[in-house]
Parts: sequence; C-alpha cells; structure tokens
Amino acid sequence: MCKKKVTLFFFAAILINQYCNAQQLIWTEVLPGIWKGIAGKPEAYNLLKAAGVLPDKAAIASIGKAVFPLDKIGISVKIIEGKTYLRFPLDKEEQLYGFGLNFQTVQQRGRIMELHVDHYGGTDNGRTHSPTPFYVSSKGYGIFINSARYLQVYAGTAVRKGSRDRPAEQDRNTDKNWNSQPYSDAVEILVPAAGVEIYVFAGPGMMDVVRRFNLYNGGGCLPPRWGLGFSQRVKSLYNEDEVKKEADDFEQRGYPLDFIGLEPGWQSKSYPGSFEWDKSRFPHPEKFVEEMLQKNIRLNLWINPYVSTHAPFYKNILPYTGSHTVWNGVVPDFTMPQARKYFFDQLKSNQIKFGVSGYKIDEVDGFDFWLWPDVATFPGGLSAVQMRQTYGVLLQRYSTEVFRGQNKRTFGLVRASNAGAVSFPYVIYNDYYKHEDFITALINSGYSGVLWTPEVRASTTSEEWLRRMQTVVFSPMAMINAWASGTEPWSYADVAPQVKELALLRMQMIPYWYTAFAKYHFEGIPPFRAINLEEGFNQQGISKDSINTNLQENPYLVATMKEIKDQYMAGEYLLVAPMFTGVKTREVVLPKGNWYDFYTGEYAGNGQIITITPGLDKIPVFVKDGAIIPMQPPLLHAAKAGEKIAIEFRHYGEKVGSFKLYDDDGETFNYEKGDYCWRSVSMKKNNKGEWAGTISIPEKNKPNTIGNISWKHIGP
Ligand code: GAL
Repeated sequence: MCKKKVTLFFFAAILINQYCNAQQLIWTEVLPGIWKGIAGKPEAYNLLKAAGVLPDKAAIASIGKAVFPLDKIGISVKIIEGKTYLRFPLDKEEQLYGFGLNFQTVQQRGRIMELHVDHYGGTDNGRTHSPTPFYVSSKGYGIFINSARYLQVYAGTAVRKGSRDRPAEQDRNTDKNWNSQPYSDAVEILVPAAGVEIYVFAGPGMMDVVRRFNLYNGGGCLPPRWGLGFSQRVKSLYNEDEVKKEADDFEQRGYPLDFIGLEPGWQSKSYPGSFEWDKSRFPHPEKFVEEMLQKNIRLNLWINPYVSTHAPFYKNILPYTGSHTVWNGVVPDFTMPQARKYFFDQLKSNQIKFGVSGYKIDEVDGFDFWLWPDVATFPGGLSAVQMRQTYGVLLQRYSTEVFRGQNKRTFGLVRASNAGAVSFPYVIYNDYYKHEDFITALINSGYSGVLWTPEVRASTTSEEWLRRMQTVVFSPMAMINAWASGTEPWSYADVAPQVKELALLRMQMIPYWYTAFAKYHFEGIPPFRAINLEEGFNQQGISKDSINTNLQENPYLVATMKEIKDQYMAGEYLLVAPMFTGVKTREVVLPKGNWYDFYTGEYAGNGQIITITPGLDKIPVFVKDGAIIPMQPPLLHAAKAGEKIAIEFRHYGEKVGSFKLYDDDGETFNYEKGDYCWRSVSMKKNNKGEWAGTISIPEKNKPNTIGNISWKHIGP
C-alpha cells in the first residue's frame, strides 16, 4: 500500500472506531419530568435495585409536566473496552450541587471525585458516607447515574480538543490572568461497566429537581414523633441500672428524653458482634426494655453487621457470608434471603419483639483497612465493590421491613447510604467531629437524599458545648453521643440552663419538625437543605459578569454566586445561621422577601447580607414573612399515639399566614394506607387590626392529635 493510502486507512479506522463506540441514547419519559436513558447494556444490579423502592407517581405528577431540560445533542455516551464514558454539557454560568454528602464544599463545579462509599476522611474527594451519584444544576435539571460502581467524576474540569466552548490559549510568560484550570464545558463521568442507566430530572427550579429525585426514590422517610425528640447515647459498658438511672436523671432534672442509645457493650461480644444481650450487664433484657418503655424511653441498639463465632446463628449464616471477614466477623450477604432470615430473625426475636425501637448500624462505610477488600467475593454473586456501594442501603431496607412487619415505625442511625435509600428512616453520622463541616454536610444532605446529624459528643469549652447543642437541636436527630465521654446535657454547668432551654425548644417544635418530615415524605422537600434551593435564590440568568463585587452596592447578586456553607433552611420557614466557637459576629445572607428574628419577631432584612452579634445564648434563626410555626408545650417526651396535644400557632411578619399541619398517629405505618390528615391553618388581621387564626375542622375518621389551640403574633 502506498503511504497516502496507509494514512487514509489509518484515519478511517479512527473515525469508524469513534463512530462505533459512540452510542445513541434513547430517552424515555418514565414519569412527568423524569427521563431514563439506557447506555449500552446496563448491569442488572444498581442502586435502585438495591433499595427496591417504588416511585411516588401521583406526587411526581402533581409537580407538573416539563420539557427535556438540557441539550440532548450535547450529551455523549461512548462504550470502550467495557467502560462507559458519559459527557453532559455545561454552560458558562451554571453551578453544580450534590454528588453526595460532602463536608467542605457545596458548589461542585470544577471538582474531581471518585464516588466511593467510605468514612469521610477530611477531603471532599468523593469518598464519603453517601456518595450519591446525583447532581443538580442551577439551570434547573438534575442527573442521576444509577450505578453501584465507583464512578470517576470530572465536574467541569477537563477541556477537550473538540470542545464547543474551548478556551483560548494564554501565554503564562506575559498574561497575568493565565489560568491553571482553563474553562471546561462539560461534566464527564466514567462508569466501569459496559452500560448504565441514566436519569434526567426536570425543574423548573432546583427544588423541583430535588423533589422529583426524592419522590422517584419513594419520597422521604417519616420518622415516628418520638424520633424527633431528644436522644442520649450512653457509655459503651453501661449496665441496666446505669441506663435506668440515666433516664431518671433526665426526668428529675427536667431535660427531655425520648430514646437512649446503647453502644457495643449491650452485646456479650463485640466487635465482631454476638447480637445477644450481655448477661452480666443486662440479665433480664425483656423486663428491662419493658421498664424503660414504662418510663417513656425507647432503646436504640448499636450494631455493626459482622457476625462473631459466638452469635447463636453463626453456623447457620456462615454459608451466606463473603470470602473475607471484618474484625474477624463474617460478613452476611444481605442480597440472599437466607442471610436476611438468620440475621433479622435474631434481631426480631431477641430485641425488636421486646420493644427495642431501632438500631445504629455502624461501620458499613469504611475505612479500607477495616472493611472487606475489593477482591472479596460474595456467595450471592455481587462483586465486593457493588456490595461496598450498597451495604448500608441493604441494611436500611431490610431492617425497615422488619419494623414495618410489626407496624411500628423506627428511626435509627447508619454510617453508609446511597441513592435509593431516601425513604428509609435512618440518619447518617460519623466520627469526624468538625462543627463547621458538620453544618456543610447538613446542607449537602438535602441534595443527596439522606439525613445527617451533627451529633454532639464532648467539648473542650462550655461555649463549644452550647454552640454544638444549638445546631443539633436544629437537625434531623437531636443527639448526644456519649459512648466514650459519658457527657450529659448538664455536664457543662455554666451553660446547663441554656442547654435545657434548647432541648425543650426542640420538643416545643415537634409539630413543626413532624410537618417538615411529612413534606419530605409526601412532597419530596428535604427538611434540612441549602439556602440555594429557596425561591429567592434562583440563580438562573445570573452570570459571573453581571456580578458587582461591591457588597454594599449589590449584595444579593454576590450572595447568589458565593458558596454558602454555614447557613441552612430548616422546614418551610426557618433559616438557621449557626455560630461556631470563638465567633462573636457573623454575616447572614437573607434571600429576597422580608425576614424576621425567630425569638423577637423583629424585622431582620430582605435580599441582603446582614451582620449579627447574637450573644452566646441563642442560635440565630430567621423566619419568612407570613410564617406560621406550630408549637406544643415543652414536654419531656413526645406525644404517644392518640394523645392530644395543645398547639400554639405563632405568626411572623406582615403577610397573611398560611400553613398545612400534618397529623397522624405518629407511631405506626398506617399513614401509608391513608390514615393521616392535613389541617389548613391561616392567620390574618381581623377588623380590629389584631392577628387572628382559623384552622380547618378535623377530617372524619382520620387521626386527630390536636388539643387546645391558641394563636400568637410574634413581633411588633
Ligand atoms: C464508632 C461510632 C461511634 C461509636 C463507636 C463505638 O464507629 O462512630 O459513634 O458507636 O464506634 O465503638
């Protein structure tokens, strides 16, 4: 062949190769505003399969129809040597949020990650407790990669030769603006499998995207009312009497308490665990659990799922465990019904039947030195990687099923999760303990379909103790984790009264929290979430160039573009701006609309950055104009099923207030069969100029736990 012909042949081969690898994506609208695209041959096992949940079709339909929200032509898929190369377009002004439970960053554009279930190690590199492969764009769409593999993500970092928007070359020798990270116009993701399912979620707003995602995952979880009360985890080796005394101390001192967590020492052996009560510390477990319930205290038990040779079901479960051990315990393959039966039968007969209310499922996340390696094998056929990415999801799924079988709700803790697990009643926690980063995680939880608690353990100063307590009571689980320290809410005597007031405030706000969770379940709205999801923060149409960097002249625009990682929304109406140790003054970015101080009702600002100096006693909280916050008396325990509770509706601001209060029995799964109701509440000025409220009558044959009603306008 002549030289010319060889060259032609060579280029043709490249072209054919590229053409053959490129895949035509066929998009199917599976539900209004949700499209599924299939690339190549997706694997049979994926995140949604692991979770096994069904979308809430009716709720998704109620968000409304939408057109495909991004440029289809700009999406590219190639399959090369058993791997899927995905590319999604990015515009100049677009910001990206999500990619799992990050602790230090909220905006994700320009970051490189490997999405990998792990204990968070101090860097947002994709290794985290829930590396949810879902991101939301400020342009109002979301992308979810339904894969149970480790995914490589380049979130707007790489520049292709053929880039639509390829940046101009710069000369570093002469150009002061030379940039080491030139502009990238794409999100690129590498999936180590010869095909994958991709989902696109439409807006129009970012909140609509998040809602569609959560509802596609079955809607958020609805904890029992008691789960929203206060929780104390006692020292690991406490015995029955010490646990009872702890409960009595709370009661006598007037601190609220709904559930106590027992740490590894409740078991006769751990780690690995025997899943049996230790006879010396808990000689009469059934009687003990019953006595605790008499005191209105539920018990939550720490486990990690690795089974000791001392467990009564060890021999039975052995054939259904992986090739490797974790801390010398065998690793059940929960994809296999036999493993599930032996494991959960033990929990059911030895604990749940006695009245144990839930579990803390520990160490299902990482580190690599602890968990099974990627070369491990499992009898059910999953690879070690697929098991790692979904182990926390499987445990949440099947433990929830056990409680559903008893028609008793649970609310527990877990250290690993992923997409698919939105509806499971578990809260993520870890050992990392950096207060500021705990708040950033709380913000990111709202983009990742998970719940997160900034748990409090111990502190070096009472200031730190109080500051941490302030944020944990404004989180999904108000918990002290004293497994090592033995601290109690009153341990720092000089701030004990403030801590008590806070814990009681948590209890007063249970109707508000409970309604926020009902909205998570029925409407997909995360109860704790980023300020960027608020309407006044819609970033569409704002480009970097339009920003006036002078804060005084145009604070709102600056605020919409800067990374806000130290303030968040709690429920429908509250903006929480935590204070950290040593900080006396802080800035708060208020979205558009009038905002008021939660404690005094005084006007705070509108679409601006304010500077506050709030003092130590209070956590700054701001309320939207026209908000109605339902408050109950400061009870020491959450209301029981059927118990009637007085409600004071507090109104803020100038606007007419309207609110929908959720109600059900608070303990069973009967709400899944329609046994619940929403009461419409409104408050406006009467002809005497006084604020007065109305509430719709209770629905016939539906739960009604609302007792006496009173109304209050907070503020001038
Ligand atoms: C850790 C967990 C702690 C505590 C401890 C008990 O893994 O994060 O909260 O439970 O184990 O050994």
